[in-house]
Amino acid sequence: MKNVTLIIMALAMMSAVSMAAPPAHKYVGAEVCGMCHRTPKSGEQFQKWQASKHSQAMKVLSSPEALKIAKEKGIKGSPDQAPECLQCHQTAYGVVASLLGPRFNKDDGVQCETCHGPGGDYMKMNIMKNEKEAVANGLVLLSVKDGSAEKLCVTCHNKKSPNFKGFDFKKMWAQIAHPIPAQ
Ligand code: HEC
Ligand code: HEC
Ligand code: HEC
Ligand code: HEC
Repeated sequence: MKNVTLIIMALAMMSAVSMAAPPAHKYVGAEVCGMCHRTPKSGEQFQKWQASKHSQAMKVLSSPEALKIAKEKGIKGSPDQAPECLQCHQTAYGVVASLLGPRFNKDDGVQCETCHGPGGDYMKMNIMKNEKEAVANGLVLLSVKDGSAEKLCVTCHNKKSPNFKGFDFKKMWAQIAHPIPAQ
């Protein structure tokens, strides 16, 4: 009886541990997503992202405007090294280097994986084609309709941004929408 209780307790502890630490997926970088998501048939998501300000989010941290903001905030050193700025301007900020793939480039700003989750495991063709499998491998499903998209945007587009001038989701989404065209 005592043994059974111990086994049950051990099992409960083991499952608690595995729940606390889900498998970590690697960040591959926008260039890698762009291998497939660049054709007209796929919807040219890569080119749309490249043309958007999200791809420039690290570059702007070297602008005179950024230096001025950083100075006013009393930040020492360059804003493109400052945690106070990188938390919103860089993908995978604070993630251990071993989880960054060889083609991941931190200078690419707010990349696909900021919104869709690290893609090291879901990016394989056979997995990507199967939504359930993709989600099981780390894809974060987002939707404009159910409000989950807007919820994500306002984790950065909020008053903690030194440049915040309000956030109109409909208008802002229209600037970065990247749908798969209807067949
Ligand atoms: C090897 C090719 C390939 C790579 C690399 C790839 N994808 Fe995909 N992706 C696909 C295909 C194919 C689909 C399914 C498209 C369809 O349904 O028409 C897809 C679908 C998606 C979807 C829609 C999922 C859904 O069910 O709503 C998202 C989001 C997505 N990919 C994001 C990414 C991101 C982010 C990366 C990089 C981390 C990436 N993909 C890398 C091929 C790829
Ligand atoms: C809470 C998230 C967040 C933080 C923290 C943050 N930013 Fe930003 N930043 C944004 C967002 C979102 C925008 C886009 C402005 C908008 O449309 O609301 C932006 C825009 C900018 C721009 C304007 C670029 C342009 O195109 O005009 C500069 C410059 C900038 N940020 C510098 C900084 C600096 C410097 C820091 C650190 C002191 C910082 N930001 C911290 C989210 C953030
Ligand atoms: C700022 C966040 C953000 C970034 C950056 C972003 N996406 Fe998305 N993506 C979304 C949201 C939100 C949706 C859901 C749209 C909807 O509900 O219609 C989406 C949808 C998609 C879809 C499915 C479209 C459809 O019609 O089903 C694909 C594929 C996709 N993204 C690929 C990418 C790729 C590849 C990149 C980078 C090159 C990227 N996304 C960058 C937020 C983002
Ligand atoms: C990880 C933080 C982050 C998230 C999440 C995020 N953004 Fe941004 N966004 C930024 C930053 C930083 C900038 C400024 C980049 C620059 O100026 O180069 C920006 C700029 C923009 C711009 C350009 C604004 C302008 O002044 O021209 C649009 C549009 C935009 N974001 C839409 C969205 C939408 C829609 C979502 C949600 C689906 C979203 N963003 C999610 C950080 C974020």
